[in-house]
Amino acid sequence: MNSRALLTSSASRRLLRPVAELIDQRIDRRLRAAAAADAADREALRDAAEAVKRQQLTLDLLLGSSGRGLSRIVSPGPLNRLHSEVAELAGDRDAAVRNVATAYRLLVALESLGTGRIAGGTMNICGKLGTIPLLDPPNDEILEIGTLYGMFSTGLIRMMERDGRSPSVTIVDPFAGVQLQPGTPQRSDPSGTPVDEHAVRTNLALAGPAGVAARIQKGFSEDPDTRAAVSDRSYGVIVVDGDHSAEGVAKDLEWAEEIAAPGAIVVLDDFGDPKWPGIKEALDKHLTGTTRFTYLGKAALSAFLRAS
Ligand SMILES: C[S@@+](CC[C@H](N)C(=O)[O-])C[C@H]1O[C@@H](n2cnc3c(N)ncnc32)[C@H](O)[C@@H]1O
Repeated sequence: MNSRALLTSSASRRLLRPVAELIDQRIDRRLRAAAAADAADREALRDAAEAVKRQQLTLDLLLGSSGRGLSRIVSPGPLNRLHSEVAELAGDRDAAVRNVATAYRLLVALESLGTGRIAGGTMNICGKLGTIPLLDPPNDEILEIGTLYGMFSTGLIRMMERDGRSPSVTIVDPFAGVQLQPGTPQRSDPSGTPVDEHAVRTNLALAGPAGVAARIQKGFSEDPDTRAAVSDRSYGVIVVDGDHSAEGVAKDLEWAEEIAAPGAIVVLDDFGDPKWPGIKEALDKHLTGTTRFTYLGKAALSAFLRAS
């Protein structure tokens, strides 16, 4: 009898049955254990995914776009780029990284506690707030042309005070109930808050005594009466963020030439933003003429100039 015939004979099968059953039982046990482990792994994965979703939901409520139009969640590429741009403007990388982080926390805090929002993208806001104190303006008089809710000036007061300065703010805005912008349809703000002086006062108060003392001039920046009311001093910082048309920016730059203190910093918001081509157009043209301003560079979508 060959070996195959020997193994398949009925006597052999009877003899080997207990061994085969034992092997079957072991395989069964292993399969059940593996299935149980798989189920436990799947449950752990489901729990982890649920936890991540809850964290994402919480983060979205805190930092998402709802109620302010743009999300405040940060990505590494734009943040690294902003660090480099601010460092180049300020000549100090450590201070740039520190100020951008400080500005970011302040932005989130102000939008959480204030009325309305700060206009624009997160990197642009942090770039402006972080860079201005590092450029060591020659005095503490600050003029913001176009304020929306006054929240940027509120933040700038804090950033200057953190640098040991004593800021004194003047604001010019028509406070038309909505954001006015030539050539763009007027629509209600994503924050739902009306653009009025009351909202601005509430926000400025968040910056303490310097905010409460801020001077607010209702009107258009090109209006001679508005200009006369606030041209009583030389400003160390001028933020141009009102009428975004080329003509509007050109007029604000001409006015800034007259009221900027020697060494003043002029910030031109939304510079290079494809949505507002008139801003770059106006600055490029302005810098080809007779001017006290030198272009220092840009951080995100803001250009920085220094007056002679
Ligand atoms: C982009 S928002 C300002 C945002 C604010 N600087 C911020 O950082 O949150 C522009 C503001 O300028 C105002 N504005 C429009 N035309 C103006 C003008 N000719 N003079 C002054 N403000 C003007 C708008 O009504 C609006 O409140």
